[in-house]
Amino acid sequence: MFQRPWTRRRILVLGLNTLAGVGTAVAAKAAYRHQKVQSQVQWLASVDRSFAIEGNTALRERAAAKGLLYGAAARRGDLEADPSLAIQYGRECNVLVPEWELKWSAGSSLLRPTPSSFNFTDADWMVNFAQAQDLIFRGHTLIWHLCLPSWFETTVTRNNAEQFLVQHIKTVVGHFAGRISSWDVVNEAIEPNDGRADGLRNTPWLNFIGEDYIDLAFRVAAISDPKALLVYNDYDLEYDIPSHEAKRSAVLKLLERLKSKGTPIHALGIQGHLAGHETRFNAQKFRKFLADVASLGLKILITEMDVSEEGLPADFQERDRIMAGAYEDFLSATLDEQAVTALITWGLSDRYTWLTDFYPRSDGAAVRPLPLDENFQRKLSWNAIARAFDQAPVR
Ligand code: XIL
Repeated sequence: MFQRPWTRRRILVLGLNTLAGVGTAVAAKAAYRHQKVQSQVQWLASVDRSFAIEGNTALRERAAAKGLLYGAAARRGDLEADPSLAIQYGRECNVLVPEWELKWSAGSSLLRPTPSSFNFTDADWMVNFAQAQDLIFRGHTLIWHLCLPSWFETTVTRNNAEQFLVQHIKTVVGHFAGRISSWDVVNEAIEPNDGRADGLRNTPWLNFIGEDYIDLAFRVAAISDPKALLVYNDYDLEYDIPSHEAKRSAVLKLLERLKSKGTPIHALGIQGHLAGHETRFNAQKFRKFLADVASLGLKILITEMDVSEEGLPADFQERDRIMAGAYEDFLSATLDEQAVTALITWGLSDRYTWLTDFYPRSDGAAVRPLPLDENFQRKLSWNAIARAFDQAPVR
């Protein structure tokens, strides 16, 4: 991520020499992690990254000027309870994604109350909100191994799983046909650690239906809404570390298999959940991955971007600068790829982020992963995204 090896290396060598005196490997590892963060903080402090921008133009306009879309995920409950939040979505975004309302069951939303019923109340509210705010609406997600209702495990079997998959997609995609621009048809189906040669994750869908469940899901979605952009969505594809490299390779092979069998897949969704302490982003390798995906004739969306804070310092100004650096370094490489069409952040304001519950700071301080702070003020991460849009080539 930070391509100034001589500065970072000198700090790291200095730091590692200090570590030499540390006792156990575990302590050294923990201290090394801390050292990496400290070296990153020191590097940032030593380099003038002001994240300066010109003007006050909102992200949606900066994106549109380059033929890109910018949007964010949200929950019905937050938008309904907080009118000032709703205003921010209308101001900054041209895309809205439901964080809960189009999953089988998430948070307070239960799209699938029983094996034979659908409750579209929350999703309809979100689509109507999007239309009222002139926002494009994208659907997330049809087939996933998580956020399944309590009846799923005791009801779905090898004998009926295919029927449940087909009925769910036909009913949900059909209900919104023409009003949803793109769908995450299948989410997170790759997990190399599950040990399969094809890298597929051992999910109920795979175990009950077989590997063709992915092709089937896309074919049913395409029939149910021929106009929707159909996306395969996954995470841990971003960094130059072995687990991400293995996942990139497995995802690429999956996309190649699907394209070779004529599956109606149109795009790859890269979730973009970054880690502020992680410095191993290799822009050249990531650009190559994006180019390999694009060479299959696929578009690319960054679908859930945010930056977690594991190990970052307590001082929120230092944190903001590190996270802004993560946003800008990732996006400046990503948006150079012409096949990339959209950036979605997984929330817009720090007041409403899943990371508060899922990845809280060990010191209890509020997390700050998104472009707007808890009072809807633009942060350096907002500047970083704005700069990336401003510097991106026109599509
Ligand atoms: C998360 C939501 O943010 C949580 O509120 C919910 O409880 C679980 O799902 N990858 C995805 C998203 O594709 O659907 C997940 O969203 C975050 C990780």
